[in-house]
Amino acid sequence: MVEQSANQGARRSLSKRFNLSLIVMYIFTVTVTTPAIYFITKQQVYNRAEQDLILLVDVVKSIQNFVANDLRPHFMKEQIYYSPSFSGIVATSRIAKYLKQKQPQYYISNVSDNPLNPKNKVQGLEQDLLNKFRSNRNMGLLNTMGEINGQTYLVSSAPKVSKKGCLRCHGEPERAPEDVKATYGTESGFGYRTGDVVGVSVVGVPLEDVQSLTIRHSLMVIGGITFLFTILFVVVNLLVRRLILEPIMEITTVAKAVSHGDVIREVNVKDRKDEIADLANAFELMRRSLVAAMKRIKRNS
Ligand code: HEC
Repeated sequence: MVEQSANQGARRSLSKRFNLSLIVMYIFTVTVTTPAIYFITKQQVYNRAEQDLILLVDVVKSIQNFVANDLRPHFMKEQIYYSPSFSGIVATSRIAKYLKQKQPQYYISNVSDNPLNPKNKVQGLEQDLLNKFRSNRNMGLLNTMGEINGQTYLVSSAPKVSKKGCLRCHGEPERAPEDVKATYGTESGFGYRTGDVVGVSVVGVPLEDVQSLTIRHSLMVIGGITFLFTILFVVVNLLVRRLILEPIMEITTVAKAVSHGDVIREVNVKDRKDEIADLANAFELMRRSLVAAMKRIKRNS
């Protein structure tokens, strides 16, 4: 009984050390992995948003180029001031309305603090951007992060500067085309002066919530690590027991028996090629030599 508990103690302390190392490795892996996941997730979120933003900005630019180069000269020749085919901003605003039905997450707007369309009145982040462009006239583009309608966006914005051509619709209200006056009235959106920053264009791509994405990714990865470590834990414990603890306990038991004069008990010889099996086999050889020697002594005496 005492022997058994001594063996058990040895067994426990060896397995304990292996298991403790495994637990330390597990904790280390998890603590290193979580910040790494946060960093990678953040990077991914930004890169994705940035790519989308570049695409969206180029699409908006292309719409405005199409209006400026392909539509406007033709309609000017005909003296037709129909705004969607005359102003890139108007065309963009119309197309953005259709895009919103398909891709509601994207934000495209041209806003002013003196708008024709009251829906295009600056607010929040847009007001800040407009102020910045007004106070720094050399700034041609500003990429930033900001909140629009409670959602974080990566935005690309540019000032809208009034030129001579703009005054056709945004100058004197009386001179504005009939369709503009009929749709928007004559109250707001007029009186532009050449060279003024009259508004700001904002293109925004939503930034996914990095925190909740990180938690989701972390849980997935930590789940995987835990699963692998559990398998490792079971396999290591099984191997330690079969290859190390059991043979050592066997040798210990026989060694103790021999020390008490019981030389009959054999060591269970292992048919393996490792150091512990070698030890067990060597011990069994020693026991057999001892038995033979004792027989010889008995015969001679
Ligand atoms: C052919 C007429 C026309 C011309 C020329 C024109 N715009 Fe406009 N603009 C409009 C109309 C119409 C709207 C309202 C669009 C809407 O409903 O979203 C508008 C909207 C805007 C807005 C958004 C705020 C608002 O008023 O609703 C800005 C900023 C703007 N225009 C700036 C300019 C600038 C700068 C130019 C010259 C480079 C220009 N516009 C030339 C007709 C015109």
